[in-house]
Amino acid sequence: VTEDRETSGRRYGNPVPGGVLLLAHELWTSGQTSPEAHEEAARSLGISTEDFETVREFHRRLVSRAHDEPLVLCRGVSCRMHGADSFHSALKSGLDSAGVLGRTMDVLCLSQCPHGPNLKVQQMVLCTGTAAVIADDRPWRPITAGPRPVVDAAPPS
Ligand code: FES
Repeated sequence: VTEDRETSGRRYGNPVPGGVLLLAHELWTSGQTSPEAHEEAARSLGISTEDFETVREFHRRLVSRAHDEPLVLCRGVSCRMHGADSFHSALKSGLDSAGVLGRTMDVLCLSQCPHGPNLKVQQMVLCTGTAAVIADDRPWRPITAGPRPVVDAAPPS
């Protein structure tokens, strides 16, 4: 079911968590760089070739980042409900096999919860559920930070 994909942020129909990025990585590692291969990939995902190109650009940033530049992976509740665990495992394995895994960092939330599983490189967040990249330089909470203090959740007085 792919016809519900819209650029307004609704989820597209690919059932594989993080499938857009995994396929971009697969094409890259297998040297499939022709426009036809990318069009076919976009079609198979049920997204536009423009959106797939956006994902490929994110992938380029991911695999060419400095070794100490972290790949930030969201392990918040919503992203995990959208399949973050299996996605992270497949992605790390694919990046490692290609020799480009580098540093990774788990965080609790990247503020794009409905569109995950989400991940971030530099200031760019890839929402794999919608094949959209969002510029976002807001800080994230490291997974070691624990729950927010109750005072943070208090209603405004
Ligand atoms: S839980 Fe992943 S972005 Fe919020």
